[in-house]
Amino acid sequence: MTVEDAYNDWAAQYDTNKNRTRDLEAVALRTTLAAIPFETCLEIGCGTGKNTEWLVRKALHVTAVDLSAEMLERARKKVSSNKVTFLQADITQPWHFATQVYDLVTFSLVLEHIQNLNFIFEQTAAALKSGGYTYIGELHPFKQYSGTKARFDTEEGRQEVECYTHHISDFVQTATQHGLKLVDLNEYFDTHDKSGLPRILTLLLQKV
Ligand SMILES: C[S@@+](CC[C@H](N)C(=O)[O-])C[C@H]1O[C@@H](n2cnc3c(N)ncnc32)[C@H](O)[C@@H]1O
Repeated sequence: MTVEDAYNDWAAQYDTNKNRTRDLEAVALRTTLAAIPFETCLEIGCGTGKNTEWLVRKALHVTAVDLSAEMLERARKKVSSNKVTFLQADITQPWHFATQVYDLVTFSLVLEHIQNLNFIFEQTAAALKSGGYTYIGELHPFKQYSGTKARFDTEEGRQEVECYTHHISDFVQTATQHGLKLVDLNEYFDTHDKSGLPRILTLLLQKV
């Protein structure tokens, strides 16, 4: 099953399933970006609009992009604001949807589905203003090493979505090659219990 088909199937239950990764990443994004100023935001892989709701309250305009029509339909219903433009696009193809340069580009739980980080950071750097920020919130690679994957249950059984493991050094080194400098890195744990594996990795990068 393609990633697009998987999210089209998952969309109806994405917001209501028990999903600690989805919920903790929402906390991580809000914490990381609370003190970061931005007027324009490009949200990559907006899904059902979990973070769009919050981003649009801080920004003057948000462009929210996703591959899945079904995920986008739910986002459109959730976030009715004239400050947001929802677009369907595949970010593994050239980013023709980025028709301006932004103060902030965000990725929440998206890059695990992307094989080629180099292309993504190249497009991100081109879509950012000088001094602009990139936020990345991903399932922590330590969780991936231990076998955790994006998945959901259907009447036909458990569906796993195609995923790739990116090590922390992959993110930082590839970003650096495209002029995106690491300014903050954080790890979020279930119920603040630091004896287990961290669930969410966040990176905040700035275009130099
Ligand atoms: C786990 S969901 C995360 C949604 C939302 N950001 C959140 O945190 O709840 C991953 C999203 O990435 C989108 N996605 C995956 N591959 C993509 C691609 N190549 N281009 C655009 N969006 C993609 C999926 O359609 C899905 O909505």
